[in-house]
Parts: sequence; C-alpha cells; structure tokens
Amino acid sequence: MNLEISTPTNELSQRLSATPRGARLARRLTATQLATWGYPHDSDASHTAQLLVAELAANAVTHGRVPGRDFELKLTLLPEKDTLRIEVSDTRGDRELRFLDGGSEDEHGRGLVVVFVLSARWGVARRTVGKTVWAELPLTSRRRPCPRRPVPEG
Ligand SMILES: Nc1ncnc2c1ncn2[C@@H]1O[C@H](COP(=O)(O)OP(=O)(O)OP(=O)(O)O)[C@@H](O)[C@H]1O
Ligand SMILES: [Mg+2]
Repeated sequence: MNLEISTPTNELSQRLSATPRGARLARRLTATQLATWGYPHDSDASHTAQLLVAELAANAVTHGRVPGRDFELKLTLLPEKDTLRIEVSDTRGDRELRFLDGGSEDEHGRGLVVVFVLSARWGVARRTVGKTVWAELPLTSRRRPCPRRPVPEG
C-alpha cells in the first residue's frame, strides 16, 4: 500500500515560548519563511510581515501570556488572494484588545496602531483556550481601506 503524506507548503505553524526570545524567534521565522516563498529578507513584503509579527508576538508574550504556556505563530500564504495571513494565538482569554488613547508622552499603545496601519484586515477570534489575533497583508498591492475596529470572527 502506498501512503502519501502531503505537507502543505503554503503554511507554517510553530509553537514558541511566551518570552521575549520566543517573540524574536517568531520574527526571524517569518523572515525565513517569507524568503522560501519568494520574498527576500530585505523586500517590502518581508519587512512589513516582520513588523506585524513582531507587534502581535510582543503582545502575546506580554498581555496574552499565561505562565508556562506557549504561544503559536501561524503563517498562511493565500495565493488566490495574493495575501499573507498571520495568526498569533495566546492562551489568555480574559483580556480585551483595545486601542490606547495615550497622549504624546505615552510610550505604549503603538502596537495595534501599527497592525491597523500595515494590514488590510485584522481581527480577534476567540478559541476554547485563549484567542487568535490575526492580520492579513496583501503581498502585491498597497494597503486597502479597512475598519479601525477588529473584524469579529469565530
Ligand atoms: N494578545 C493580547 N492579549 C491581551 N491583551 C492585549 C493583547 N494585545 C493587546 N492587548 C491589549 O491592548 C492594548 C493595546 O495594545 P498595543 O499593542 O497597541 O499597546 P501596548 O502593547 O500596550 O504597547 P506597545 O505595543 O506600544 O509596546 C494593550 O495595552 C493590552 O491591554
Ligand atoms: Mg503592543
């Protein structure tokens, strides 16, 4: 009997420790994976994807962290839409994401603004344990208009 195991090449899924090191690794994995998909480290697409992952991963390991639990990075290439879908899942379900108002002296509250500005769509999906914060990045076209609030899903 011939068993064929197909490995999806348009997807990367990786569990990482919920630490600053894990967050840095998420960014590096993103650059490496994008390069294998044809977007070199120094391309605009790779830079933007790395920034998005860096902000989402930083949030997962600070605000979304439950001690002893990993977070997960998932990247999916959606060729039919020429889009990269980024999903960062953490284990905390009891905290809401919110845009911080912050005055000019406030050094916090940039992360979700960056995600809003750089992605075409983003949102939060509840999971049985925790949540997934996702963002979609068009790889060829420029950013399209999008709602400031996350799109509800799941
Ligand atoms: N994964 C998450 N889990 C729980 N709460 C989150 C998560 N991501 C963001 N938040 C909440 O949304 C707020 C805004 O996030 P944002 O990334 O914009 O700012 P920040 O992380 O506080 O600061 P900065 O990103 O500038 O270092 C956070 O302060 C936090 O309260
Ligand atoms: Mg942040």
